[in-house]
Amino acid sequence: MPWNPYLKLLGLFWVLMSCNSASNPSFETDLDSAAWVELGKSLFFETAWSKNGDVSCAHCHRPEFGFSDTLPRAGGNAFGVPARNIPSLLGVSRKTLLNWDGGVRSLEEQALIPLHAEGDFGLPPAQSLQRLQGKDYLEKWGYSLNLRTAVTALARFQQTLTLPEPVMDKHYQIGLEWFQNQNCQQCHAGPSFSDGKFHRLKAVKTSADLGRYRITGIPQDSFAFLTPSLCTSWLSPPFLHDGQAQNLNEAMQAHGLELSQGEIQLLELFLQRLAGMAAEPPS
Ligand code: HEC
Ligand code: HEC
Repeated sequence: MPWNPYLKLLGLFWVLMSCNSASNPSFETDLDSAAWVELGKSLFFETAWSKNGDVSCAHCHRPEFGFSDTLPRAGGNAFGVPARNIPSLLGVSRKTLLNWDGGVRSLEEQALIPLHAEGDFGLPPAQSLQRLQGKDYLEKWGYSLNLRTAVTALARFQQTLTLPEPVMDKHYQIGLEWFQNQNCQQCHAGPSFSDGKFHRLKAVKTSADLGRYRITGIPQDSFAFLTPSLCTSWLSPPFLHDGQAQNLNEAMQAHGLELSQGEIQLLELFLQRLAGMAAEPPS
């Protein structure tokens, strides 16, 4: 019977967010919403969090790839979660469950994973916070930062990252019609093209990563993963939870579907439009 690998963090999160003595009254009373976002942005790009001083959140969630990356997988941590494809953070505030297995419910809680000693940064948060003393963007407020304020600021910054504006030209219209006819919206539903639910694709290659089962312990949830938004897919190939699909053909084969060359091209043009890109098809 698995257990939510993040239970330990959930405890810390609960203490942080509910305990008054853990708050930073000066920050919390003095920062307006723009200042929160600015602080969160500085912390997002901050490399002093990591043991060797070389990794920030943006190291993996790179702005030029929709706050994702083109690596097949990254992360993998001492909480027992295997390395997975890095989700784009554009539109992340629309999601009610985070990560491919939905094991985390809030941006604040999520930020504790890399920030924790056993996470990507490999340093106890107290030590990282110590290192941040004297940074210009904190100095100007004249207070020292605590973990609760840091995760709140990171969340406020990520809430400003919105989905790309789709390009609604003829390729978009043709793609959407095809998409609807194929019944893709059964799962890729709503404005972000995700139903927020978990499904095991018919022909997906499985690995040691049991997906949703890790969180629920329900056998039917084995190898089920959260339906990804399709609005950001084109910004950060490869595809699927472990980056196993190098191209759309492979992503569709994992669904148990063999599409024609023409359909793949139509889908590619559609995903480009969803991602706000309007490149003409290669001739
Ligand atoms: C070593 C690479 C790496 C670093 C550094 C990293 N992340 Fe991530 N992040 C990932 C991976 C991989 C996942 C997917 C994990 C999963 O599904 O279990 C993820 C998931 C997320 C998610 C959930 C997104 C979603 O759509 O479900 C958020 C939010 C997030 N990270 C924010 C952050 C923040 C904030 C930081 C810095 C404090 C950070 N990440 C640092 C690799 C990284
Ligand atoms: C039964 C639900 C379901 C249906 C129907 C479905 N998908 Fe998916 N789709 C998913 C899930 C779940 C994933 C992620 C699976 C994984 O990573 O193991 C996914 C992944 C994808 C990806 C990769 C996205 C990324 O960023 O990694 C693409 C592209 C995609 N689907 C397109 C389609 C298209 C096109 C159709 C219709 C022909 C379709 N899907 C029908 C559930 C579905």
